[in-house]
Amino acid sequence: MPDGLVVGLLGHGTVGAGVVRLLREHADQIAVRAGVPMRLGPVAVRDLARHSGAGLPRLTDDPRAVVAAEDVDVVVEVMGGVDPARALVTSALQRGCSVVTANKALIARHGAQLRALAAASGARLEYEAAVAGGVPIIKPLRESLAGDRVRRVLGILNGTTNYILTRMSEDAGSFADALADAQRLGYAEADPSADVEGHDAAQKAAILASLAFDATVTDADVYREGITGVTTTDIAHAARMGYVVKLLAIAEQADGRVGARVHPALVPASHPLAAVRDAYNAVFVEGEAAGSLMFYGRGAGAMPTASAVVGDLVTVARALLAGEAPPKTLLRARAEPAQVPVADVATAVVQAYVLLDVADEPGVLAAVAGAFGERSVSIRSVWQEGRGETAQLLLITHATLEGDLRATLDRLRTLPTVRDVASVLRVEGGEA
Ligand code: HSE
Repeated sequence: MPDGLVVGLLGHGTVGAGVVRLLREHADQIAVRAGVPMRLGPVAVRDLARHSGAGLPRLTDDPRAVVAAEDVDVVVEVMGGVDPARALVTSALQRGCSVVTANKALIARHGAQLRALAAASGARLEYEAAVAGGVPIIKPLRESLAGDRVRRVLGILNGTTNYILTRMSEDAGSFADALADAQRLGYAEADPSADVEGHDAAQKAAILASLAFDATVTDADVYREGITGVTTTDIAHAARMGYVVKLLAIAEQADGRVGARVHPALVPASHPLAAVRDAYNAVFVEGEAAGSLMFYGRGAGAMPTASAVVGDLVTVARALLAGEAPPKTLLRARAEPAQVPVADVATAVVQAYVLLDVADEPGVLAAVAGAFGERSVSIRSVWQEGRGETAQLLLITHATLEGDLRATLDRLRTLPTVRDVASVLRVEGGEA
């Protein structure tokens, strides 16, 4: 980098354009903080004509040319998706070129291999923007909390679903109406399944679980339920009992195993995560020494995400200037992905909210309570409302094993007086 650090850009969509804007508008400050000016090098886009007016002198439609360019010091990958991003990032790292990426799908699926490649070649791989957009959480987990032991991470990692649940809660609207509202505002895609089915949050949960517990957790390891089954009735019951419904991503370690799950959950209204409204994200970290910490902000959008990407560029620049070259033995140690086993979700300790439609007749409550008792699932509270021949029965359990909860639900479904197991939601942020 004779007269500055040359940044090669893969992708010039919403985030890419935000990165270019920050590199231009904050150039002087970035040069001071990084210790070197940053210059935009080649930029790869799919459609040259669409970006021809963006003032990008080295525009190309060949992303491999960006990765292979002799003068590129660091590659920024903001094209998204696993392919061809994986091959491009791999090839940059293999030649010792550092990479900054915002690609959660790539890191969630192939992060361990890519980190190993980076360690072997002495390159840096930074991905702050891959989780919770502009909210700093990767560096806090990897650096600031490196001396602590993280017990648990609870995250609201998907803004679209948080917006939908906020609308359902505050306007008492249906899921369909809230989703349509989110689509109108541009939060939700035309096909919203990645968000509402929890895939997006599961990718981010895998990344956080891997970092917090030095493990190799991929998105395929994350137990996942989305929010499509959450009803306004659930939200109203939750509110009456002092809870707010959130889509939570949970990463935890117990008995030497790492667990990661994404599902809707009742959170006590007094918990800091309950105050996270609309499309905001937050990550609540329970540290052994540091105690509880919460990181909050915008999890998506051009400029918040670009802020995280450019922060990573400054990190890479500082490392290059410092001539980071760890000893070979250390490189070998770092190249080995940690092998902390991933726990079966059945072993997770959970509390549950269970809503049943039952016959309103003598002995029903005893039969239902018996089904819980058979698996030693302790009931904390019960609420019942008669509605003619049927009744709604709402139970909240004490902490129990997810496997025992599931066995109890299976048993309840066999009882002739239980017409329907209408809802099952976990309760988090309290007793469990
Ligand atoms: N679609 C995501 C969200 C943003 O709604 O939070 C990108 O991960």
